[in-house]
Amino acid sequence: MHMQNIHFDNTEYGERQIAGQLQTAWMGRDLHFYESIDSTNARAQLMATEGASDGTLIVADKQTAGRGRRGRNWISPAGTNVYFTLLLKPAFSPQAASKLTLLMAYAVKCAVDKYVSCAIKWPNDIVVNGQKVCGILTELRLEGTAIHHVAIGVGINVGKQEFAQELADKATCLADVCPDESISRSGLIADILKVFEAEYEAFAAADEQKLKGFRDKYNACLVNKGREVCVLDPKGEYCGIARGINEDGELLVELSDGMVNAVYAGEVSVRGIYGYV
Ligand code: BTN
Repeated sequence: MHMQNIHFDNTEYGERQIAGQLQTAWMGRDLHFYESIDSTNARAQLMATEGASDGTLIVADKQTAGRGRRGRNWISPAGTNVYFTLLLKPAFSPQAASKLTLLMAYAVKCAVDKYVSCAIKWPNDIVVNGQKVCGILTELRLEGTAIHHVAIGVGINVGKQEFAQELADKATCLADVCPDESISRSGLIADILKVFEAEYEAFAAADEQKLKGFRDKYNACLVNKGREVCVLDPKGEYCGIARGINEDGELLVELSDGMVNAVYAGEVSVRGIYGYV
């Protein structure tokens, strides 16, 4: 008897679909799509050491070893979510690189807003109704004291899915918060890159990479702004009112005595006093 091979049909999502929607001048024009890969961040970094160009985009339908922040895993099943990494080779100082995550959070927020109103939880989670739909992991490689490359990885929960028990009240997916919309994963990626490219070029050209004009745009999207937050600082936890970011991308937290602490994302995380946001 002749057995027919049935392949997973992923024709609506792939290199051609993404390339067809891109509206950028240079970002993502060197595009690599994988049905399955360990991690788009890991692949981007490998490609960077092999000479991949500035703006290379790596997209996967599935990751077998997706990386989250703080050494966590990012569960990455096939056929449902967005996983991509943008590789950049900026000429500015390594200190400026952490701010790129904020630019990417803003770009994701603008793209997701097309489907459902969302906000940024400092520094770089995108939330809908207080639940996370997107995480961003930025990894930096130095050469001496200069940046060799930056890999900005974005994971967006798009299709319906079950979350692990510990995430159930903290995470959501776009399909659950905008069930009437059909969401194009390639369209999302193209929209994100369009906004990110414009913000990145302004940022790269700015004096000392200060977030001058961008700061107000970012703060307008910030779910924490004006809310009481707990700063989980390894040197001691404390609470205060989040006032938004400064030009260095640090979160300003006002303490009860009126003092304002500038919190740097690499050192601490921030939680709402009643939960995640
Ligand atoms: C977080 O913990 O919030 C960050 C999650 C980042 C996940 C994305 S998925 C695409 C890219 N590749 C990875 O291995 N991680 C990032």
